[in-house]
Amino acid sequence: MRLILLGPPGAGKGTQAQRIVEKYGIPQLSTGDMLRAAVQAGTEVGKRADALMKAGKLVPDEVVNAIISERLDQPDCAKGFILDGFPRTLVQADATEAMLKDKGLELSSVIQIVVDDGILAHRVSGRYTCANCGAGYHDTDNKPSVEGVCDRCGSTHFKRRPDDNAETVVTRLQAYYKETSPLIGYYYAKGKLKSVDGMADIDHVTGEIEAILSKL
Ligand code: AP5
Ligand code: MG
Ligand code: ZN
Repeated sequence: MRLILLGPPGAGKGTQAQRIVEKYGIPQLSTGDMLRAAVQAGTEVGKRADALMKAGKLVPDEVVNAIISERLDQPDCAKGFILDGFPRTLVQADATEAMLKDKGLELSSVIQIVVDDGILAHRVSGRYTCANCGAGYHDTDNKPSVEGVCDRCGSTHFKRRPDDNAETVVTRLQAYYKETSPLIGYYYAKGKLKSVDGMADIDHVTGEIEAILSKL
């Protein structure tokens, strides 16, 4: 199963990707997570990406294309993968096509998570993740069952992203409309696009996605 999750910042791509990982055992390839790891590690890529990410702007295509191309060659991608936050421009979408063609693979589906703009700042500014296992939470909408303790791994350490503030969300949303939203038409034209209602609660969205995946 080779999937793309498409949607604006805070749509729920990461949240749903984690659930697909658990159910289907295929890896989540989040360029955002990989870039944050590169920033943390202080690599050349990280140094290039840091300021752009903090400002809510996209990192250059050649940087993320190279990251994904390398990642797709890892053995755990052999049985499938979920692309989360990639591709994000038409150049990246064409590069994805070329990479898959090269490996003799085809995309299974592109799932667009549709949400109203008004909710995105709320979702993003309340978000935090487990510093140990990466499980995602929200201050009001998606709390761990025991306050301050990760449901998945029991850790009590959490972190927040530097770009998760109301100001940066505006720039991220602009980048989404300008650069990423054309991919909706791109994948529709290829007959790959499916949409789910990202305004519904998290379990409901998962149900809609599972209904799509069960027909692949
Ligand atoms: P990235 O990390 O991909 O961020 P993003 O696209 O802005 O998306 P988010 O991770 O913010 O949102 P999400 O859809 O994953 O939502 P989540 O599930 O966490 O990219 C960050 C930056 O890296 C970019 O700005 C760019 O600089 C760079 N970058 C990354 N990829 C790139 C690329 N390909 N090209 C160029 N640059 C790139 O959910 C959000 C919150 O809402 C959570 O708290 C969650 O609990 C809650 N929530 C989720 N679903 C629901 C629901 N149904 N109801 C209520 N609450 C919900
Ligand atoms: Mg995410
Ligand atoms: Zn955890």
